[in-house]
Amino acid sequence: MTPLLEVERLTKRFGGLTANEDVSFTVGEGEIAGLIGPNGAGKTTVFNSLAGFFAPSAGSIRFRGEEIAGLPPEAVAARGVARTFQIVRIFKGMTVLENVLVGALLRHRAVPDAVARAREALRFTGLERRAADPAGRLTVAEQKRLEVTRALATEPRLLLLDEVMAGLTAAEVQDAVEMVRRIRDRGIACVVVEHVMEGIMPIADRMLVLERGRLIADGPPRAIANDPAVIAAYLGEEYRAPGA
Ligand SMILES: Nc1ncnc2c1ncn2[C@@H]1O[C@H](COP(=O)(O)OP(=O)(O)O)[C@@H](O)[C@H]1O
Ligand SMILES: [Mg+2]
Repeated sequence: MTPLLEVERLTKRFGGLTANEDVSFTVGEGEIAGLIGPNGAGKTTVFNSLAGFFAPSAGSIRFRGEEIAGLPPEAVAARGVARTFQIVRIFKGMTVLENVLVGALLRHRAVPDAVARAREALRFTGLERRAADPAGRLTVAEQKRLEVTRALATEPRLLLLDEVMAGLTAAEVQDAVEMVRRIRDRGIACVVVEHVMEGIMPIADRMLVLERGRLIADGPPRAIANDPAVIAAYLGEEYRAPGA
């Protein structure tokens, strides 16, 4: 079966800087893949290429068997890829519901339909009681959740989450983990960029590790946690599994 997402030799250069070099991986339908690595490793750049914000310098991105590299963000979103931003990009002066409507209008041109879809997404992420509040009044955790809600309202097949657990309390991280699980249970595949290992290790089917633009490991979380190259590049000894 064709994987949902096939990334092949993805390369992105900014002038003399190679942010991604020959990055290849696949994501299956309904799979959760963790994407980790040190700051500056190129994780967000992968997302920007996947979501149509950057045209890759080289390589191919196939989504549901179709080449999407170089397509504009709206076209990629229409095909079923949604993303959140590391630095949240919500409209703070608009209400929570209006922010989610921006996503829902992608597939529902009739406003009442889009509103219904947005409310359903808000119920799913637990933000419904905040629907009428200005988005700028939300807590950090709620703002991150709002971005996820807006992305879900576009009815994606693949969701790209960029550090949605950063800056959250331990309890909020657990809520976020639960939410990602429920998203996957809806059949939506997720690629999750995360530094919070407690947030990603327990739910990932696969972990992808970037270092200086290159993919240095790709495997199940337990194997990744014990991979000497990954420990040296990023994890340190802390995540080595007991007895390994
Ligand atoms: N739009 C851009 N223009 C120039 N350089 C960029 C741009 N975006 C990212 N970079 C550079 O690419 C490298 C990877 O960045 P990024 O993908 O944001 O890393 P990560 O998300 O893993 O921290 C960094 O050196 C960063 O400065
Ligand atoms: Mg980043």
